[in-house]
Amino acid sequence: MSDNLINITVDGQKITAPAGALLLPVCLENDIYIPNLCFIEGMDDPPASCRLCMVEIEGENEPVASCRCRISEGMVVKTNSDEILRLRQVAFRLLVSTNDGRCKFCIANHSCDLQKIGKFLHQPLRTKRLRHIDRDYPELIDEHPFIVYEPKKCVLCGRCVYVCGQLEKGYKLDFANRGMDTIVSFFGSDLDPASQDCKTCLACTEVCPVGALSSKVKWQSFIAEVKIKEKK
Ligand code: SF4
Ligand code: SF4
Ligand code: FES
Repeated sequence: MSDNLINITVDGQKITAPAGALLLPVCLENDIYIPNLCFIEGMDDPPASCRLCMVEIEGENEPVASCRCRISEGMVVKTNSDEILRLRQVAFRLLVSTNDGRCKFCIANHSCDLQKIGKFLHQPLRTKRLRHIDRDYPELIDEHPFIVYEPKKCVLCGRCVYVCGQLEKGYKLDFANRGMDTIVSFFGSDLDPASQDCKTCLACTEVCPVGALSSKVKWQSFIAEVKIKEKK
């Protein structure tokens, strides 16, 4: 065995992985599903903002976010206790409390991570256990020449901001405002030649785990289909 490979145990399963690797991707690579929204492979310093990936680690007093936890030799991890399920359910309810829940009219319907996680956690997208918060945003922001943004679907995971920042040209979108008013905002527009970079990129739309950020072309053809179905 190579020197930098170590052994850990997750839910009773023995796993060998590189020392210092992040626990979340190690589990995912070994077919142990842990819900996650704000993590992307390659992140050095994950924001750990969605709080969906909590796990228990033997010897730790509190559950930890697996996306920020580096593995060490002999680590024993539990991903499926009742306490962990409860914590994830609370985090999920908070996330969906601001979501418009209009899946039928969403380009990500049936491929949305929020739907998948809701099923995994036995939680509906519209929850009666937490007051729904209707954020005061338009349904659609479509000033960008190639991208549309639906703020009421956005879970503020930050994946789009992260991938855009990794590109050579740097951030063309970022979070604006604070707290409940946070939103993803574009610096580029059709008046800004920099946004032409987006035309062949669209990386942010590909990592969006929900239907909040989409290629304008794809979104327009999706809406055309919805309208045709509604007329039938
Ligand atoms: S399309 Fe690419 S360059 Fe444009 S905002 Fe998205 S990630 Fe950034
Ligand atoms: S637009 Fe999508 S990727 Fe960006 S923060 Fe919102 S949900 Fe996450
Ligand atoms: S994936 Fe770990 S907190 Fe979001």
